[in-house]
Amino acid sequence: MTPRRLLLYLLVAICGGVVYASGFPNYHAHFDFVAWDKHRTAEKLDAAQKWWQSAAIYQIYPRSFKDSDGDGVGDLKGIAEQLPYLKEIGIAATWISPIYTSPMADFGYDVANFTNIDSVFGTLDDFDALIAKSREVGVKIILDFVPNHSSDEHEWFKKSAAGDKDYKDFYVWHPGRMVNGTRQPPTNWRSVFRGSAWQWHAERKEYYLHQFLSKQPDLNYRNPKVRAAMSDVLRFWLRRGVTGFRVDAVPFAFEIAPDANGNWPDEPRNDWVVDPDDYNYVKHIYTADQPETLHLVYEWRRVLDEFQKENGGDERVMLTEAYSPLDVVMKYYGNETAEGAQMPFNFLMINWLSNDSDAYHFAETVNAWLQNMPEGRTANWVIGNHDQNRVGSRLGADRIDMLNMLTNMLPGVSISYYGDEIGMTDVWIPWNDTQDPSACHTNPDIYEKFSRDPERTPFQWSDAENAGFSTANKTWLPVADNYKTVNVQHERVAPLSHLNIYKQLHALRNESTLRHGSVELKAINQNVLGVKRMLLNDYTYVLLMNLFDSTEQVDLTQAFDNLPYEVEYVIVTPQSTAKKGDTVKSDGLKLLPKEAVVVRSTTKLTTTVGYFAYYVPKNEKHK
Ligand code: GLC
Ligand code: MG
Repeated sequence: MTPRRLLLYLLVAICGGVVYASGFPNYHAHFDFVAWDKHRTAEKLDAAQKWWQSAAIYQIYPRSFKDSDGDGVGDLKGIAEQLPYLKEIGIAATWISPIYTSPMADFGYDVANFTNIDSVFGTLDDFDALIAKSREVGVKIILDFVPNHSSDEHEWFKKSAAGDKDYKDFYVWHPGRMVNGTRQPPTNWRSVFRGSAWQWHAERKEYYLHQFLSKQPDLNYRNPKVRAAMSDVLRFWLRRGVTGFRVDAVPFAFEIAPDANGNWPDEPRNDWVVDPDDYNYVKHIYTADQPETLHLVYEWRRVLDEFQKENGGDERVMLTEAYSPLDVVMKYYGNETAEGAQMPFNFLMINWLSNDSDAYHFAETVNAWLQNMPEGRTANWVIGNHDQNRVGSRLGADRIDMLNMLTNMLPGVSISYYGDEIGMTDVWIPWNDTQDPSACHTNPDIYEKFSRDPERTPFQWSDAENAGFSTANKTWLPVADNYKTVNVQHERVAPLSHLNIYKQLHALRNESTLRHGSVELKAINQNVLGVKRMLLNDYTYVLLMNLFDSTEQVDLTQAFDNLPYEVEYVIVTPQSTAKKGDTVKSDGLKLLPKEAVVVRSTTKLTTTVGYFAYYVPKNEKHK
């Protein structure tokens, strides 16, 4: 027996029954591993966890996932056909960007009928078939709910513009203000997609508000009829079998209430922005993050919960999109009296990290969420979506695996954007082929800064024509040049491909330690990030990421408490020379440039006392 182990036995004998607790972040506070309660078995922990709390969620951009009818645009039948692929890679639920009737001014984020399917994607029958298939395969469907605005081609807007008494206040209207005898927009508010947020309507002879395109008029959430109508939209899709909603552009739902004369105030200027068309020309103190918006989210959550109470089944979930200050985003979770979104998107990795972020920067970014999250809530991790350059292009193509490792080794929900699992990167699109309105509203000199087309190109299934996405002569956006090697078919058989690493990570997520264990995350030095996951009576896991091009020597026993002297490699990457299953001394781990690995204890942890951890000896069985 080593002296250290002898000391450990003595300590265990002396302090038996005393709970050792340290400053772990309040992730799943009640699931903390440190209790001595031997009755909290993995089965019991699993039973206390809701389906989504350690789920992997996958975003599909439907135009680009799979085209079943050869028109060059993806569709519902295509998605249904490929659900087994999502199952294969370990996905619990997929959120699908909008599939509703739309003139496609913003590719579906301009909805002309909230309760029907656009013909480019299929029909309601196709949708029902998708739900049936999703139940058969075991991948849940989450829809994109776009509450802030409709299309100007929605019948509500047409009736509103015509002054129909039931609809005239469905949108935000104002006659404008007279300045030196000429009519001007009611305020200086800017649109996210540039220019004034007000559009003159010739028929109604008033301006209407559009925080996005003029083809996306803002609904008036101060009108209870609008709130009722939109809650009914949620119920419509819940009845059709969806498991929840990703809620689009939430912070824009409410604007400040008009004064007694029906006027709104101007927003103050941001002096550092000179271009008057720029969205940031003014500070959005009256048009974003209004306090009423939080209550609207709580109201929608009640719709979901009531539906579940009446109809049973899984908890219905909400994921909210808000690029708002962290303290505001945290309020979307809910408070002591109201439940909110189970998953307010965590955009910190998107907002705070860049290509040259070091390990301290990464640690700060991840810990900011864990430390600010209200007690008892579940974290989520997002590194990409249809509005952001692809993660490989933003943070480095040679870091794709390590970033997938990070989002999957952290506690809570991991959210992937289609294609990130095979390492798709941005595709450059010339001005003449540009589709995204956010870019088309600019000019050939600056459009690349605004275009979201590069991250929306067709999914790469195989090395067949159009990457197996479509049989069309021309796809709506071009297929990436690299599709002959970067594709599912090829990566399935390459052992250390992005796809196979991703699949291994998703298998690992089912391990109790990753589902329920504590987390400790730190910069071991400027170049190396370490994440430790630990659970009593289970294996201890460590993820190590060497962010840059130096070779690093790591002493894990110095970096983290409670680690065994020896660990084994569980996941390696193409940068590694170690093989899966190799063991290595914890105080002498070498990391090659841009190498990331997952290692774990070779046996289970049975006791911790202060700094001391007792792992089952290798040749003994854990009881
Ligand atoms: C959200 C969507 C984005 C869309 C906008 C307007 O930010 O993610 O794609 O353009 O809302 O609906
Ligand atoms: Mg609005």
